[in-house]
Parts: sequence; C-alpha cells; structure tokens
Amino acid sequence: MSVDIVLGLQWGDEGKGKIVDKLSENADVVVRFQGGANAGHTVYYEDNKIVLHLIPSGIIHKGTICIIGNGVVLDPEILAEEISYLNKFNIKCSGKLFISKRAHLVFPFHKGMDRYIEEFMKKGQLGTTKRGIGPAYTDKFRRIGIRVGDLYNDDYFENQLEKIVNYYNLQFSKIFKEEEIDYKKMRNHFLNYRNLLYRYVKNTEEMLYKYQQEGKRILLEGAQAGLLDIDYGTYPYVTSSNTTLGGVFTGSSVSPFMIKNVYGVTKAYTTRVGAGPFPTIFKDENFANEFRDKAGEYGAATGRPRNCGWLDLVALKHTVKINYITKIILTKLDEISGIDKLKICTEYNINGEKTDIFPPEIYKLNIVEPIYTELSGWDDDISSVRDRKLLPDNAKKYLQFIEDYIGVPIDIISVGKFREDIIQRKD
Ligand code: GDP
Ligand code: IMO
Ligand code: MG
Repeated sequence: MSVDIVLGLQWGDEGKGKIVDKLSENADVVVRFQGGANAGHTVYYEDNKIVLHLIPSGIIHKGTICIIGNGVVLDPEILAEEISYLNKFNIKCSGKLFISKRAHLVFPFHKGMDRYIEEFMKKGQLGTTKRGIGPAYTDKFRRIGIRVGDLYNDDYFENQLEKIVNYYNLQFSKIFKEEEIDYKKMRNHFLNYRNLLYRYVKNTEEMLYKYQQEGKRILLEGAQAGLLDIDYGTYPYVTSSNTTLGGVFTGSSVSPFMIKNVYGVTKAYTTRVGAGPFPTIFKDENFANEFRDKAGEYGAATGRPRNCGWLDLVALKHTVKINYITKIILTKLDEISGIDKLKICTEYNINGEKTDIFPPEIYKLNIVEPIYTELSGWDDDISSVRDRKLLPDNAKKYLQFIEDYIGVPIDIISVGKFREDIIQRKD
C-alpha cells in the first residue's frame, strides 16, 4: 500500500505544511485534493520561510512530483505568483508540478462575490479568506463552472465565460449595486494565463492511476481541517469543500484500498481564524494576546490574528473518528512550555447536560461551556528534544492524557518550525 494522507483535525493551521514537507522526504508524489488559495501552508527551507497556497508542500524536495488534483479550485493569478515566488528561492516547478484538467477555475468575479456576500451578511459574516472559494465551488455544483482543461478550446471557453459573466453581472448590478464585469477584459486576462499554465496541465487522474499501479509512494496534503469540513464541521462556519477523508477520493483519484496511514495533525492547543463557535477560546484577554504574539498565531494566508484557546478533546475526538485517523501528529508542543497550569477540555456542558460527543447543531455549539481537566505545565525549552523519553515529565503526562482520551497514538511530536524539529516514534 502506497498512500499516506495528512489531514488537519482542528480549524486549520495545525502545521500541515511543515509536516507534509517532512514526510515528503519519503514520498514520490504529493497531491492537494481540495480547497484553493484559502490555504496558507508554511514550510522552512534553508532558513527561508515559504508560504504555499496552492502548490503542494512537497515542492521543496527536488525529485518530488506535485499534483493539484481535480478537487481543488484553482486561481491562476495566485498560482502564477506562487510559481515565480518559488523561483526566487531556486525552487523550480517545471517538470514537477501538474494540474488536473478537471480542477475548477477561480475567476476574479468569484472573489468579488465572496466579498459582496460577506458585506451583505453583516453580522452573519463567516470571515472568509475572500479568495472566492465559496462562489467557485457553488458554480462547480451548479454546473456552470469552467475547468482548467476548458481553457484550451476557444469556442467552448468563450461561450461558457460569456454565460457566466452575464449571470454574475445580473447579480452584481441588481443585487449588490456593483460595477459590471467587462467580458472582453476577462477573456483576455484568462487567455494570458492559459499559456502560462499550459506546461503544467495534465490528465492527473491517469497519472495517479499509473503511479498507484507502480507502487509509487503518494502523500495527500489536506488543506483547512475537519472542523471546517462542509459536512462534518461547524456548519455554516466552514469552508466549501470536504476537508475530511472522503474528500481525498473525490478530489484526487487515489483508491481507498491503497491507504496505509491517515495522519491527523493537531496543535497542542487550539486556534481558529474567522467567525464561528470556539468553545475553548482563552477567556483572559491579556493572556490570549501574549500567547498569540509569542506563538506567532497570525494567518499565513491573510495575516489575520488567530484566536487561541485550550486543547479541545471533544472536538478532536470527533475529527479523529470522522477520518478514521491511524496516527496523530501533534505540533507546537514547544509553544505551551512555560504555562503553569494547562487546561484540556474533556466534556461539554450544553444547557446543563454533559456530553463528550461533538454536537452537529450550531445552536448547541454556540452555547457550549467547556469542562476542563487541569494538568501541570513545564518550564523547560523543549525545542531541541528528539526523544519522547527525554521530555519533561509533565509534557509526557500531557501527551499520555491525549492518547488515552483519543485512543490513537501520537506518532510525531513537533517542537519547532523547522523540518528537523520533530520527535518521531521509533517503534
Ligand atoms: P498549516 O496551514 O496547517 O500548514 O499551518 P500554517 O503554516 O498556517 O501555521 C502553522 C505555523 O506554525 C507556521 O508558522 C509554522 O511554521 C509553525 N509551526 C509548525 N509546527 C511548529 C512547531 O512544532 N513549533 C513551532 N513553534 N512552530 C510550528
Ligand atoms: P489552512 O490550509 C484556517 C477559514 C476562514 C473562514 C472559513 C471559510 O492554511 O489550514 P473560505 O475562504 O474557505 O470560504 O473561509 O474557513 N479558513 C481557514 N482557516 N486555515 C485555513 O487553511 C483556512 N481556509 C479557510 O478563515 O473562517
Ligand atoms: Mg495555514
């Protein structure tokens, strides 16, 4: 079996980029299967901080093939920027990066619509990344989207684009009282990008079929995370794709029968950016601000401050179950050194009733009172520890507590932002 999967288990930004970069050492192919440029995945390469939005985090490795799968919504403008940005670090995409012809395109009017809807919603805003993700997936499922492969047939592309532009213009002018899109400008704009993308565009589904037959080691890189999943997340405060296990199969073309490991990535605490319930958010504002600054909790895609809070095992167990996670990867353990008492949420109190099941209903999630267990912290700097046995006793207890609750082993502990800052299970 040759397929490993890396999925976020919280509300995103768990450190998937760093982990995929590390695991790519043993991968032939790395694939993104959902989401779009709403993702911000950070990797460090020769001391340079690199933030990727669309290109898989395996790109740093010279021999690794990277695929943007059919389930991704692709913004050619951002992709073009990303390719030249990587070039500056001497990281080449040519011959290594391939884009599915079936991936849907994100157009500027999707980003416009994303903005207008957010403004229109006023208090009900989701706090999206404004990357056009919701509107692009909406058009895909409404069957008026345009796919990457369609760029290469003038008649079809122009026809479709004209229809969709007219459709958006109706809404822009009538509902949002905004300026209309100039069809010709839009067409020319995209015709430029099609030349630029041409060398990367392939039938990646066929490529992946062949790679699986050949036993190539394939790594799937999730974007966003389980609690942002359109079905299993904190709906409606979610993204517009399946970020959980099922999304892998519809968004690439790997077989469920090829899976070896489903890695689930969680921070040692919790963060959330954008709107929506966050039961374990730090209540003490000074502590929250200090922690955010120390841990650098600012969005990699948008720069927005991330809300921070205690580890929520009720929520974590939910995404572990939904994804059938086989191994946990716990990141940023180093960032909770120096906290005297660490709280971990083990139950929710909802209207006087206790539960350890993550509720499907948003109105319940909005009124959750977390019930905490308190564990003692540690002061030591653990960033150079490479053996779990050598961690401070209280850190070991913290990890053991999580494993006992979740029932899945922690396979990798991340203690710093660099590739080598990990403690890997040896057995
Ligand atoms: P992603 O979206 O899941 O890839 O995560 P982001 O890149 O948005 O955010 C994770 C942040 O934490 C990045 O700045 C990483 O460089 C950083 N990071 C990842 N793992 C660790 C770790 O174990 N310790 C520390 N201190 N930073 C980490
Ligand atoms: P990575 O891959 C954290 C959040 C947004 C918003 C909601 C919907 O870096 O973990 P969208 O633009 O997708 O329509 O926004 O989802 N969101 C993320 N939060 N990390 C991400 O990606 C996110 N991608 C989207 O903040 O709350
Ligand atoms: Mg991120």
